[in-house]
Amino acid sequence: MKFRLWLILFIGFLVYTCLVYSYCDKNSLPGNTPDNHVVAGWNTWQEKNCQSCHQIYGLGGYLGPDLTNAASAPGKGENYMKVFIQFGTGKMPNFHLSDSETNNVVAFLKWVDKSGKNTVPKENVTWTGNYNLDN
Ligand code: HEC
Repeated sequence: MKFRLWLILFIGFLVYTCLVYSYCDKNSLPGNTPDNHVVAGWNTWQEKNCQSCHQIYGLGGYLGPDLTNAASAPGKGENYMKVFIQFGTGKMPNFHLSDSETNNVVAFLKWVDKSGKNTVPKENVTWTGNYNLDN
């Protein structure tokens, strides 16, 4: 009896694992190869340790906001981000980045933004627990 329960759970586990790992609709992923600006911005992001205060997809420090979708958030965007990055605020340090460093970091954040949403709308979650990228 106990053995059958284990067997059912094990089969359930196998089926679920197969569903999770076989699901990848490559056509719906954004054409998102980083260009040189994005790579340079990414390096600045790491040098200045922006992630010690900010999160991407929820990972990072929590002093500042999550920046995954700052580039496309209503009322935010490129110019909004530039002001913070170039001047800092009372809580965020001014890193004295040059114009090109600032533009590159912004390019990096726009690239991150294109990779997906940091919150999954409930209606996009399928019954298998996967995220449906199409709608
Ligand atoms: C010491 C912590 C800290 C570090 C390091 C830091 N930030 Fe911030 N950042 C903040 C805080 C806090 C805010 C929110 C502004 C405020 O409340 O004054 C912020 C706001 C922002 C915003 C506006 C976000 C929004 O959605 O309103 C952007 C963009 C940003 N930071 C980019 C960066 C970048 C790029 C770096 C690295 C070069 C960086 N930050 C490093 C603390 C930090």
